[in-house]
Amino acid sequence: MAMPSHRRYHITTFGCQMNKADSERMAGILETMGYEWVAEPDEADLILYNTCTIRDNAEQKVYSYLGRQAKRKQTQPDLTLVVAGCVAQQEGEKLLRRVPELDLVMGPQHANRLQDLLEAVLNGSQVVATEPVHIMEDITQPRRDSTVTAWVNVIYGCNERCTYCVVPSVRGVEQSRSPQAIRAEMELLGQQGYREVTLLGQNIDAYGRDLPGTKPDGSHRHTFTDLLYFVHDVPGIERIRFATSHPRYFNERLIRACAELPKVCEHFHIPFQSGDNDILKAMARGYTHEKYRRIIDKIRDYVPDAAISADAIVGFPGETEEQFQNTLKLVAAIGFDQLNTAAYSPRPGTPAAQWQNQLPEEVKSDRLQRLNHLVAHIAAERSQRYLGRVEEILVEARNEKDPTQVMGRTRSNRLTFFPGKIEELKGKTLPVKITEVRAFSLTGVPLEAAVLQ
Ligand code: SAH
Ligand code: SF4
Ligand code: F3S
Repeated sequence: MAMPSHRRYHITTFGCQMNKADSERMAGILETMGYEWVAEPDEADLILYNTCTIRDNAEQKVYSYLGRQAKRKQTQPDLTLVVAGCVAQQEGEKLLRRVPELDLVMGPQHANRLQDLLEAVLNGSQVVATEPVHIMEDITQPRRDSTVTAWVNVIYGCNERCTYCVVPSVRGVEQSRSPQAIRAEMELLGQQGYREVTLLGQNIDAYGRDLPGTKPDGSHRHTFTDLLYFVHDVPGIERIRFATSHPRYFNERLIRACAELPKVCEHFHIPFQSGDNDILKAMARGYTHEKYRRIIDKIRDYVPDAAISADAIVGFPGETEEQFQNTLKLVAAIGFDQLNTAAYSPRPGTPAAQWQNQLPEEVKSDRLQRLNHLVAHIAAERSQRYLGRVEEILVEARNEKDPTQVMGRTRSNRLTFFPGKIEELKGKTLPVKITEVRAFSLTGVPLEAAVLQ
């Protein structure tokens, strides 16, 4: 194959952190192949859309982007068009029929194989790669967006069967990486100057179930808790985060580990989806709202100031006003620091999409608005506790809206701005006195400056 010379690539990423991490690895592969990044898609010779299909609007967005670039291909025939990620996996061959200009359609499990697949494309084939595969350990260096914080995949796929969700069918079955591979990646990040790692998985607390080495009592040798103990002392890494946790697998041992291990940050992202037991049952989530509350209580026993965030769906098929109220009650009772909310969207191939008891769009959007209103109110209340406190902030970037300020996060994941020069502060952790609070962000002054005032 002729090596492409001065070919430029652009990647647009939709969807969750899993997709963002995959995009960084695919960008790394393209750069090893000699491609150069270009910010403007219209200037690229290769465009890769890493797609999401969690809700219908996410999927439709992809088609409108694609249509534009497909047209451009008529005047620029050597443009390479790639669709990766979850829409690619869901639609497969159908996507080629819909957009014949496409060169490559590749599911998320194939991200690390991008070079092989592109070689086939450059040899003149149209390629569809959506068959389930064992995910290869990656030897390419990802091209990471940040030089301070990094994602590290821990477990791919999902073995749950929530009745509304496409993820198991587009991401495949659970595949845990070995503890050694995860630690090796983190050690390299520490050497490269990264300070924070977020361990990633759809249900990260289900980690290790597919690894060899079950103990005689049936439990697993490499649980997620074991993994935290195994990686927590990696030199250079100051903070460890993880997402997403499933209430079904979240246990006291994990909470204790988070309390014990100083690098593990005081933030827990544990989606509950609904505050009503009948809806939870129809969703096949495998827990009750009482169990969810017990988990949060336990977290607060061990880590009193922990920030709690979650995901929730409103307007699930058959959800009554009273059942929706149970979600509002749970949200008020827990006091979430942040909540990702969504109106239920019927997805192809999922059981709930077939049910007759779908709710009208107006009901769903009305409930979504009411929930969002409550969330903003509660988050603003939760933010109050930071006022006047000194928080440890890891500086990530300039504040895009005010270049005299830098942006970082508290250990509890609150976005925080304060005056400072990014050239001096990037990657540093420093005490900042919080002087202003908003629902989802804070403003402060570095402690030395605060003392002088
Ligand atoms: N594995 C995680 C979440 C993965 S998907 C978990 O189980 O909690 C991210 C979020 O998208 C979900 O938590 C859910 O709130 C939302 N979501 C998934 N399918 C959806 C659908 N069909 N309609 C609306 N929201 C959905
Ligand atoms: Fe989807 Fe449920 Fe798996 Fe989360 S646990 S990814 S919501 S099927
Ligand atoms: Fe979307 Fe796929 Fe993530 S559907 S939310 S990009 S797993």
